[in-house]
Amino acid sequence: VISKALTSQFVVPEFKTFTDFIDNIYDKCKDNFNGQPAQYIPQLARVSPKHWGVSVCTIDGQRYDLGDTDTPFCLQSVVKPLNYAMTLNDLSPEVVHKYVGQEPSGQSFNELTLDYQHKPHNPMINAGAIVTASLLKKGLVIADRFDYAMDQLRRFAGGEHVAFNNSVYLSERATADRNFALGYYMRENHCFPKEADLVETLEFYFQLCSIEVTAQSGAVIAATLANGGICPTTGDRVLDSDAVRNTLSLMHSCGMYDYSGQFAFKVGLPAKSGVAGGVLLVIPNLMGIFTWSPPLDQWGNSSRGVQFCEELVANFNFHNY
Ligand code: DON
Repeated sequence: VISKALTSQFVVPEFKTFTDFIDNIYDKCKDNFNGQPAQYIPQLARVSPKHWGVSVCTIDGQRYDLGDTDTPFCLQSVVKPLNYAMTLNDLSPEVVHKYVGQEPSGQSFNELTLDYQHKPHNPMINAGAIVTASLLKKGLVIADRFDYAMDQLRRFAGGEHVAFNNSVYLSERATADRNFALGYYMRENHCFPKEADLVETLEFYFQLCSIEVTAQSGAVIAATLANGGICPTTGDRVLDSDAVRNTLSLMHSCGMYDYSGQFAFKVGLPAKSGVAGGVLLVIPNLMGIFTWSPPLDQWGNSSRGVQFCEELVANFNFHNY
């Protein structure tokens, strides 16, 4: 970082000008009081709706944090692309996509629906994420599979905050009728690999959703995806570039639930939201951004997070097209 600073070779040379814009967008979004925190998981319903944090990490390690960026919260659905990326990296797209498709479902994230081949539509909705969870290191015992996921996520985050929130896990498992229904429906339709145990798979999926980050560690994870799978703060290659490309493609088309088409149209960048209020945004070859604000809009995306992404692209030419 120092040698790049001395030779002015940063990917965002005018970083201060950029972060001044981020300050303005942050303030604008702070006045957005739309929505409320997820109500269907009691532990999430209790989180203050006031939290609002934005963290930026460029692919050459420049950082900027604003607001509540060191308070931990659960990844929830933001773990879906990460779980998918880890699984692709471990198996191959051919194997993974025997079990899960690549099409937007056009329906809500927890819809009881399969595609024309009786597969979940994509890995970014619950059905597809549960099947993907059944594939991740499926040859190992469950404790080792959980350790593997945590170790990998810590590498994505360059060793910054990645933890497990047991009360969210218990709360989620206790209120998971829909996901159990999805699991049985998918087992009836032979969606899982033969060796998968259904209850263990669902519990593993709930555990993955209950993994905590902060906006700061989340921004490093986003920057690892922006950087083709190499963590910018450690130089560790944690994903092969094909796994990253496939993951970003599906985040672009399916990452924001049934707002994904509008998000792709307006923002034109790969992103993923979660019901705890996180949004992971990737600007390929430039930076990762993580925003956190618990109140959700009608689609289940963070209201301030979506507004932030839209304002960002209104100020900077980051849209892919
Ligand atoms: O499966 C669930 O219900 C959640 N634990 C994860 C869903 C989620 O984050 C959807 N996000 N908008």
